[in-house]
Amino acid sequence: MERGKVTVRDVLKMKGKEKIAMITAYDYASAKLVDAAGVDIILVGDSVGMVVHGLDSTLPVTMDTMLLHVSSVARAKPRALVVGDMPFLSYEVSVEEAVRNAGLLIKAGAEAVKIEGGSEMVDVVKALVRAGIPVMGHIGLNPQRALLIGGYRRRGLKEPEREKILNDARELEKAGVFSVVIEYTAADVAEEVTREVSIPTICIGSGPHCDGQVLVLHDVLGLTDNPPPFARVYVDLKNTITSAVKKYVEEVKKGLFPAREHYFYSTPPS
Ligand code: KIV
Repeated sequence: MERGKVTVRDVLKMKGKEKIAMITAYDYASAKLVDAAGVDIILVGDSVGMVVHGLDSTLPVTMDTMLLHVSSVARAKPRALVVGDMPFLSYEVSVEEAVRNAGLLIKAGAEAVKIEGGSEMVDVVKALVRAGIPVMGHIGLNPQRALLIGGYRRRGLKEPEREKILNDARELEKAGVFSVVIEYTAADVAEEVTREVSIPTICIGSGPHCDGQVLVLHDVLGLTDNPPPFARVYVDLKNTITSAVKKYVEEVKKGLFPAREHYFYSTPPS
């Protein structure tokens, strides 16, 4: 059966009924592929800075970079909901700047935006929702706050961190987010959040009890050198791609490529 375009309302309705499958994609070609595979949500994540542009963290990612990748993904016209990540410092300086920048992502083709942070982001979430922009929250490990929290540490192991994560989820729900990503957080805490809030929770490295899961595409495809411990590598594309290109190099060197079907003459040789 043909399934229609996924909307924010559809995502909300999936809670408790059907697990939500979200994955990142950063361009037209990969968006077409993941959409054909049946994902519900495509996240144009700021992880693009690390897995595509070779940065050491997501901190240097700019609005221009995000706009380029969001518009490329949107051109694939996916069935999946397209969520654009707001990069570091595009929403923290002022509520006005946050609305303007989120609006630019929407104009580029995003159908919702994601921001990192909990209760401290309530004013921003409210302003975005007031402007008609659906917002996905992101709690637990916030990579954009790695400097402040001492790296990419597991979250929710002890009080008061557990209570903060629960409180962040409650506050974000009240402010109007339509779903929340929970990253690298103890599975029992993610389970409790999932039970307490009426919006879907989408987890990464936070166990099986959430309403959905998200992974970074390049980890899934085996294209990253050091995938995080919570990712599953479904295929070794690194070797597949290197072997294919190696074969091409060999054939060029040996004069085996191009073959006769790959070129033409103005006057065929006799
Ligand atoms: O940028 C990203 O890919 C993300 C996911 C890890 C949730 O924020």
